[in-house]
Amino acid sequence: MTASFPTTSTAIVLKGLTKSYGSVEAVRGVDLTIGHGETVAILGPNGAGKSTTIDMLLGLVRPDAGTVSVFGRPPSEAVAAGAIGGILQTGELIRDLSVRELIFMVGSLYPNPLPVDEVLSTTDTADLADRRTHKLSGGQTQRVRFAMALVSNPDLLVLDEPTAALDVSARRDFWTVMRKSAASGKTVVFATHYLEEADAYSDRVVLMTQGKIVADGPATEIKARIGRRSIRATLENVGDDELGRLPGVVNVERRGEAVTIRCEESDAALRELLTRYPQARDIEVRGAGLEDAFLELTGDHAGPSEWVPGSESDGTNR
Ligand SMILES: Nc1ncnc2c1ncn2[C@@H]1O[C@H](COP(=O)(O)OP(=O)(O)OP(=O)(O)O)[C@@H](O)[C@H]1O
Ligand SMILES: [Mg+2]
Repeated sequence: MTASFPTTSTAIVLKGLTKSYGSVEAVRGVDLTIGHGETVAILGPNGAGKSTTIDMLLGLVRPDAGTVSVFGRPPSEAVAAGAIGGILQTGELIRDLSVRELIFMVGSLYPNPLPVDEVLSTTDTADLADRRTHKLSGGQTQRVRFAMALVSNPDLLVLDEPTAALDVSARRDFWTVMRKSAASGKTVVFATHYLEEADAYSDRVVLMTQGKIVADGPATEIKARIGRRSIRATLENVGDDELGRLPGVVNVERRGEAVTIRCEESDAALRELLTRYPQARDIEVRGAGLEDAFLELTGDHAGPSEWVPGSESDGTNR
């Protein structure tokens, strides 16, 4: 922990946070309290206000109204003391330095930096230490940016889409590294478009759309809130319309002999399905994915491909 900081019961308190750019209301009254050691994912479509909220949290953007408190202080003080480490959505590394020089330089801006070798080792960048910063791959660059965020030994990490544009394996590597360092009790807030990341790496998901929080809770709770399940089965020669008339069915999709029946009331639908069509086989019932919950709660029915670049499907896509 950063010794100079007062111990407050919460890490972050955002109250009535509001920010407009001209006529665009980017953030419209966000209230959010985050406790010490929580890992919180902020999820939302393009333009939802995630980055604007994060920039206000980091003290980079001044709110039009409302307050930000980080460890009981204004963000500028928390940043100066090295208590917050951030990865912003945009920005390049300083060119023509080695990775080691860059991390050292960033560390020297703070009162109690970690030893550079320790940071290189934690972030899995030791083998890149002598590499020039402009010769790194996308995944390596993000690990170096993460090392820059960690060198001040912050209590709070704020990461704005840290894995955007990385392939699946680079994303997995990034989160493995992040997990290792966050395991030491840090509070982590990250924005993402990847529902799987929010599901896999956060304790809590905050869903934003149009500048507002529309849901806040563990991923499992958010999925449960919409309460939908789908029944999959192999079933030939039965029309989708007919299946759609089973109790509690929302919609029916068919691929060849396989049908997926989305229901509000899967127990009732399944009983009736088996009574009417005993030939149905290979039956599976599964809970809604976070993606379904997201679309339901944000009212974004445009389809995931509009805003989830490269998202791995959990098989419950529309
Ligand atoms: N500096 C700025 N000047 C003008 N408008 C801005 C600025 N920054 C953000 N906006 C607008 O504010 C709204 C919220 O943007 P923000 O970047 O916070 O969204 P986001 O949720 O981070 O989106 P993304 O997923 O695309 O990163 C958008 O309509 C955006 O166009
Ligand atoms: Mg953003």
